[in-house]
Amino acid sequence: MNLTTLRVSHMDSPLGIDTPPYFSWIIQSGERGVFQASYRLVVSLDGESVWDSGTENSSQSIFVPYDGPELKSRERYLWTVYVTDNHGNTASASSRFETAFMSADEWKAGWVVSPFPFEEREKDWGNQPPATMFRKGFALKGAVSSARLYFTCHGIYRLTVNGKRPDDREFAPEFTSYDHYLCYQTYDVTGLLVPGENALGAYVGDGWYCGPMTVRDFIDDPPHAVLFQLEVTYADGSAETVCSDESVLTARGPVLFSDFFAGEKYDANLEQTGWDKAGYSCPGWENAQIGEFGYGNLVAQIGQPVRPAAALPAVRVYTSPKGESIVDFGENLAGRVRMKIDAPKGAVITLDHFEAPDKEGNYFNNIYIPVNGAVCEQRVYYISNGRPSEYEPLFTYHGFRYVRVTGLDAVRAEDFTAVALSTDNRSAGTFGCSDARLNRLYENIRRTQRSNMISIPTDCPQREKAGWTGDAHAYAATSMMNEDMTSFYTRWLRNLALEQAEDGRVPLTIPYPKYYKISEIGNMLYQKEQGIPDAAGFSDAAVIMPYTMYEITGNTLILREQYQSMKRWCDYVIVKSAKRGSESLPEEIERYLWNTGFHYGDWMIPGFLKTGYGAENLSRVRATSLYTAPVFGWYSLTLTAKAAALLGNEEDAAYYGGMAENTKQAFASGIIDKDGNMPMDLQSAYILPLYFGLVPEEHKEHFADKLVSLIRLNGNCLDTGFFSTPLLLDTLCAIGREDMAYELLYREDCPSWLYQLRHDATTIWESWHCYGDDGTPLAMSMNHYAFGSVGSWMFRYITGIEYLEPGYKRFKIHPRPDATLINAKRTFMCEYGQIACGWERGDGVFKMEVTVPCNTSANVILPDGSSYDVGSGQYSFECADNSLLK
Ligand code: BGC
Repeated sequence: MNLTTLRVSHMDSPLGIDTPPYFSWIIQSGERGVFQASYRLVVSLDGESVWDSGTENSSQSIFVPYDGPELKSRERYLWTVYVTDNHGNTASASSRFETAFMSADEWKAGWVVSPFPFEEREKDWGNQPPATMFRKGFALKGAVSSARLYFTCHGIYRLTVNGKRPDDREFAPEFTSYDHYLCYQTYDVTGLLVPGENALGAYVGDGWYCGPMTVRDFIDDPPHAVLFQLEVTYADGSAETVCSDESVLTARGPVLFSDFFAGEKYDANLEQTGWDKAGYSCPGWENAQIGEFGYGNLVAQIGQPVRPAAALPAVRVYTSPKGESIVDFGENLAGRVRMKIDAPKGAVITLDHFEAPDKEGNYFNNIYIPVNGAVCEQRVYYISNGRPSEYEPLFTYHGFRYVRVTGLDAVRAEDFTAVALSTDNRSAGTFGCSDARLNRLYENIRRTQRSNMISIPTDCPQREKAGWTGDAHAYAATSMMNEDMTSFYTRWLRNLALEQAEDGRVPLTIPYPKYYKISEIGNMLYQKEQGIPDAAGFSDAAVIMPYTMYEITGNTLILREQYQSMKRWCDYVIVKSAKRGSESLPEEIERYLWNTGFHYGDWMIPGFLKTGYGAENLSRVRATSLYTAPVFGWYSLTLTAKAAALLGNEEDAAYYGGMAENTKQAFASGIIDKDGNMPMDLQSAYILPLYFGLVPEEHKEHFADKLVSLIRLNGNCLDTGFFSTPLLLDTLCAIGREDMAYELLYREDCPSWLYQLRHDATTIWESWHCYGDDGTPLAMSMNHYAFGSVGSWMFRYITGIEYLEPGYKRFKIHPRPDATLINAKRTFMCEYGQIACGWERGDGVFKMEVTVPCNTSANVILPDGSSYDVGSGQYSFECADNSLLK
């Protein structure tokens, strides 16, 4: 037995944490049926034990909270875990973590601000102010044995120490609710410092902090500012601190403007070579000003940074019918273009990024961002200095597969590379099967996830880049089966709780920046209410996300942490439900149905959008909130009751459980009619109640028949939105129609998943209709993850891996393929280690290999119905395959 993958708060040896950590480890063993019988954790500092858990006779090896005395700031702790397994084997392993500032008053550095006069950022797109260079030169008296740099800014920064970047992260300090929560990053810069003169450089662009779409509030547009503290320990044991202060110098460099939406303008003639190295004379630089922003919102970053995730060489260059030079990177992505340029001095090269050409093959902008009525282009400008150079924008990213290039005499594919960016969440799974179309669908799901997990879960990379709550929870389960999302979602949920209003409302996007505050107008129009807008199926992310995390990773700590936020959301739902929304129902029923306020309904139901996205069509989608709102109200109450029970709060469990039961009764008598019909003849109207168990026994058969007939009536196609699509195939399976689930999965006409492939989709679309009937692309995003939620079903049915207990402590492997699939394989890194399943069939025999990680057990069910309970280890199974679905 040995112990691997020691993690602290889901990170590998983190350098700067500022909250008490939790620990996890993975047990590996050559033996079968291995369980952890006991563990002991010891945390020590400089050889002295700080906390000793003592021997715990427990199989818990994930999310084990630190329970010792308060940790000290800026210390390097060692932690050791000792494990004994059920066979009496023992093993131990150690790792480290470092604390950053455990309290805000340990910041000695001062905020420093750009002295350049304020410039209006909203004038129009592509006219934002230049980025700011901040530089500090400093001397070190001797050899350095260790150095940590704590850094943050208002804007986004690119950091160098003596001209070298300490890592390849992008867009620090991340997108958060800045007035409550501004991350700082910790860097080990030991190897970058030298005795004598040194220089620290930070180039700061607008990023989320200052951009018109994402700026926090209606306050004055904020100037760029930085805060840093460098803690140096010399080889002789003495220490020194170098801080941001009034000695920091500032200048404007080659980035003439930068914006996450409009792009970047870069004038290579304004480059200042050596500006971030020792000895630079700083001609014309100005002193930074002192800023008074305080330290109260500073939080050590948890989770992975945004990084380059892939480099994709251009696959072709073509000339469009309009004569445009268009570079095609072969797949849709979020990122930017790196290009080699050899153009005359002063030549202006522009790159217009776009997702799909129009039906003739010309440039097509599918973004409409109505800030000040202007339409935004994803445009990058580069002004040549006449020397051969390589350029990749610093402070922007785009959603695109193609770029239109102007200003170059010859556009050559070999000069262009697309750099995909993503938060570097660890990949947690693989999937493949004998149907190439499903493999492409899976790759599109992964690519869409990669494109949209950029600091926060975003809706799309090319248009809004916003943390829409409804999209996030619709896709949450699949996302966690693809990547380790724990610290990413933990940070986002902490911000969600901070954005939550006094009365429990949760805004539609997290963070909730100014642009979406403007959209409160929409809310007020519909809801006739002031204040932040919330909506059923969106704001419920406050409950659904932590609960889904608990189910997939066994993370009880997130439930504990988010519990008050979950409760507050439910309390708000209870109040909203109690308001009179319909006079046609008796008060005692109506009071439990959430039927007041503004909602999006089952967003993106295709049947209503065939003729476009006009207000009338959208309002028909919204009208489905007649049933989506009460269902989501019930769901939030139910999950919160379950969380209360798990956390040992019986009183809350009874209260929210009771309210959920009242809602269920009210739904049965107030929404479902006496003949078992829903008020709207829509697939989702039948899917949601069936899936959630809200259908009274006597109507279940009718509901099932109704769902099947609605699908048949729709030409055997789905007609589902963001909230019913993730449940569609599961619901069909639950009513015994696996055949229909596979039929829908394999459909290739619109709307269907594989229809997207017929349009050469390389990412999942926002809408089932991204093209008009004549082949014209519509102004919709082609990189939206919500409909990728089918991934979860594919993993659970085709390769059969499904948790039975949270975190896959116990799980089943029960592939339920249809007759056309010949083989499939899946790996999934659950919290305990890697689960694997690979099966193939031929000559009437079904063969399967499975891997069950230590400290878990599995129930393996073969297609012939035979069932085996196994502990950890690798196993081979075989059965006749004549019982497979036909
Ligand atoms: C976003 C969606 C989101 C919706 C809410 C859109 O603009 O892209 O995915 O759920 O707004 O209406």
